Amino acid sequence: MAECQAKALDKEKEKDKRFRIHNCLMNKYELPPLPYSYDALEPHIDAKTMEIHYTKHHQTYTNNLNASLEKCPQDVQNKDIIEILSDIGSVPSDLKSAINFNGGGFDNHRIFWNNLTPNGGGEPQGSIAEAINSSFGSFSAFKEKFTASTVGIQGSGWGWLVFDPKSSKVDYKSMPNQTSPRTENLIPLLGLMFGNMLIISNIRIKDPTMSMLGGI
Ligand SMILES: [Fe+2]
Repeated sequence: MAECQAKALDKEKEKDKRFRIHNCLMNKYELPPLPYSYDALEPHIDAKTMEIHYTKHHQTYTNNLNASLEKCPQDVQNKDIIEILSDIGSVPSDLKSAINFNGGGFDNHRIFWNNLTPNGGGEPQGSIAEAINSSFGSFSAFKEKFTASTVGIQGSGWGWLVFDPKSSKVDYKSMPNQTSPRTENLIPLLGLMFGNMLIISNIRIKDPTMSMLGGI
């Protein structure tokens, strides 16, 4: 499990480097490609909601992250966003809030798109199933915990299934607004935002956990 997470983290870092190398002169992040079409998740999420969420909201976090990074010292700019969020204390105090919000928004949403799949469903298998069973007792107990705690978030925030490198276990963690679990040295695995997404347009969530829980 830990090895698997380390590989996933390396992959994400590698992806960040590519964005940054590709745009080295501007040193900017790009909106990551959506891994499916806007209508691929209907009827759970309609195409218009997907389009607005991706092209407006995620793009805005990306733009604002770049704008905030431009004001940061070189040593912060030289790190990828995962490293920055994991060491948010290294960001100058007047920029910390902007980097936390926009960097978190950028990273959270790219995880979110990849958590969802039009071909999801069913229960997880293998090491992730074992980790969930070990921490929550069963997959249905995890779904219950994830759903109840996430819809109970006050204001806007995210519910997360996280991996804690210290205990080598998975756990549930809710975070306010766009603050990343990485700021608490937790690795985000599966996230669901609560609050802002519900007012984008006519999103139809019949089951707040949606089908994505089968697509871990
Ligand atoms: Fe969002």
